Amino acid sequence: MTESQQLYKKHFGETSFRSVRAPGRLELLGNHTDYNEGLVMSLAVDRYIEVAFAPRNDGKVELVSTAFSKPEIFWADRLEKNPEAAWADYIKGVLEQLRKRGIHFSGFNAALHGTIPMGAGMSSSAALEVATALAVRQMFPYALKTTGLGAAPERDSRGNLPPLTHEERIEIAKLCRDAENQFVGVRCGLLDQLSSLCGRAGCAMEIDFQSTHVKVEPLAGEAIVVCNSGVHHSLVAGAYNQLRQNCENAAGIMGVRSLRMADEALVKKFQPKMTEREFECAWHVVTEIHRVAAGVRALREDDHVQFGQFMFQSHESSRDFFRNSVPELDKLVALAHEIPGCLGARLTGGGFGGATINLVAHHQAESFMQIIAERYEKATGIKTNPILCQIVDGAD
Ligand code: GLA
Repeated sequence: MTESQQLYKKHFGETSFRSVRAPGRLELLGNHTDYNEGLVMSLAVDRYIEVAFAPRNDGKVELVSTAFSKPEIFWADRLEKNPEAAWADYIKGVLEQLRKRGIHFSGFNAALHGTIPMGAGMSSSAALEVATALAVRQMFPYALKTTGLGAAPERDSRGNLPPLTHEERIEIAKLCRDAENQFVGVRCGLLDQLSSLCGRAGCAMEIDFQSTHVKVEPLAGEAIVVCNSGVHHSLVAGAYNQLRQNCENAAGIMGVRSLRMADEALVKKFQPKMTEREFECAWHVVTEIHRVAAGVRALREDDHVQFGQFMFQSHESSRDFFRNSVPELDKLVALAHEIPGCLGARLTGGGFGGATINLVAHHQAESFMQIIAERYEKATGIKTNPILCQIVDGAD
């Protein structure tokens, strides 16, 4: 039995109907480029949110989690925020979006367990949203198409639903993003939810957010190490939305739909009309999109040394122009740079705390993790437990 199944049994006194899990993601290259219709490279990794669940017939939803002591109980047709159980907002937000799209569901019980560190920039919230959408699909089957709601999928003789199509994965990702935008209030892009759904084991995703096209490219030979700065990031705190606003303002000033349509020359031309922050944000995004395009080429040619250089450059741009780094993340990247075997390091995800992602030669990964933990603690007094991540398939 998995941890969520055990918790289910303990709390609800019976075995669950089924369980699903959704992985966390790491942004490999492309910081804050997703909602600017740009390019990003990302990975789904072997840290998960898992949910065990079963329908119930009184119209109530009862949630219990290994991470929080109090259960959260509410009516399936009354979705309201509860400041004492903010973790449940992600679930309620998804339920609200399912309903908006005409998907029928009634009450259910769910037990949650997560292995994704919270606030570390590995998208525990997106994984929770995705797991919720998939749990509801298992209990109350639905099919989302680009054109809207399709015919509900049928179970086979063993009660299993057909696997999700790529189109369904994209539509579910959008639904989860909308939940975060509208219910939680973070105007995030589609990166986290899409990565949790579209990952491929052993591969990096190359995502074009103009067309929502996802390509996968094998990433073998190097280890992926995550170092948590210990500085908890919280995207709910307006800073993320403010950065996005700066990007949208800059695009508006240049007369383009999104920063994807701009280049360095255009940003420079309109610099006098922008505030300093608008210019800095636009400059970061436009140069970062080019770095991702170049990174994709480097990876295809198996030039991991060059790819690592782009990672370092990406961090510098986030730090100096986008300004979403913190001194602890800068320290982790500077330390990584000096350690043998490290090809590249940068902050990953929203920023303002969270973690760095490091590309490290396989045979030096163990020593890298030990050295960086020792030196980081010495420099900052903060303990970090670097995580060696495997790249896995998306949720289903
Ligand atoms: C967070 C958001 C994503 C993306 C990244 C930064 O993870 O949820 O949509 O913007 O930050 O690249």
